[in-house]
This record gives sequence, structure tokens and C-alpha cells, in this order.
Amino acid sequence: MLQQLISAEEIEARTREIAAEIRRDFGDEELVLIAVLKGSFIFVADLCRHLGGDVKVDFVQTSSYGAEKSSSGVVQIRKDLDTNIEGKNVVVVEDIIDTGLTLSHLLQVWQTRKPKAIKVATLLSKPAARTHPMNVDYIGFEIPKKFVVGYGLDHGDRYRNLPFVAELVDEASA
Ligand code: IMP
Repeated sequence: MLQQLISAEEIEARTREIAAEIRRDFGDEELVLIAVLKGSFIFVADLCRHLGGDVKVDFVQTSSYGAEKSSSGVVQIRKDLDTNIEGKNVVVVEDIIDTGLTLSHLLQVWQTRKPKAIKVATLLSKPAARTHPMNVDYIGFEIPKKFVVGYGLDHGDRYRNLPFVAELVDEASA
């Protein structure tokens, strides 16, 4: 069963604000957005259209949760960047930061490639679930430690096409 948490209109408004914050920080400098697949494909598509200016987009893919609702605890990079980020202004775009394991691993790897700046934008954050603390520069919405789907986020690859974010409630526990 789905329970809507964040509407399409709220997401749209907040995405515009985040784009404005990013442009405030970087001016009209070139940006490289790195979207972490698959969950961030819709957020990055909307975010990049609100950013304007000189924007490049690249994608990485890490091991996913599969059909599980919790992480295996191991991060594997399945598809790395095509772009050389040395000397670039990088904004990593995530759908959700849960434990922080994925992102802390990726940031560690990418810092060694000497970007000019590297910042993190996430649509959703579950601060209560964080086991790997990190600085997150742009957060769309903080949510409780619940499993959510929609607007790119999935469960077993379903629900990505929902225009809103909803909690996935087990029928048994509802
Ligand atoms: P972390 O490494 O624990 O921060 O997990 C990050 C990744 O786990 C996200 O990019 C999502 O793909 C997935 N994930 C974490 N929480 C959820 C959720 O509530 N719904 C769907 N995917 C999630």
C-alpha cells in the first residue's frame, strides 16, 4: 500500500530552490552533475533543467538493494564516470541518502581525482538512518526512517514512475 509523503508540486518547488542555491554557490561556472543510477534519474533530469548555464551530466551505478529494503553493506561500482573530473565543479546528485554508505564510498574515490569542488545534492535524506556521517550540501526533504518509493525510487524496480514520493507500507503492518 502507498501513502503519499511528498507531492509532485512540493518536489517541483524544492527542486527549483535547490537549483537556485547551487547557482548561488557556483555562479555561472561550468558544473558536472554526477547522477547515481538508477534512483536519481528523474531528480537529475528536473534539476539540470532548472540550473541553466553550462552543465554536463554523467552517470554512475553502484550495486543496488535489489528487491530488498536494506543494504547489503557492500558498495560496488558497476559503472564508473566517463568524465575526467580533475579541476571540475562537481555536484553529486542522489535520490536518497539512507545510511550514507554509498555516498561516503563514492566521495572517497572521487576526491582522489582532484575535482575543483565536490558537493552533494540529494532529494531525500533519512538522518536517523545515518551510520556514515557526511556533509550534505543540498537536501530536498528530510524524512523519517521509512522505506519510500516514487519519483525515481523503487522497490524491486517498481514505482519509479510515480510523480510523488510515497511510503511503501506492508499490507500486513498497515
Ligand atoms: P545508503 O548507502 O544506505 O545511503 O543508500 C543509498 C541508496 O539506497 C539510495 O541511492 C537508494 O538507491 C537506496 N535506498 C535507500 N533508502 C531507500 C528507500 O527508502 N527507498 C528506495 N531506495 C532506497
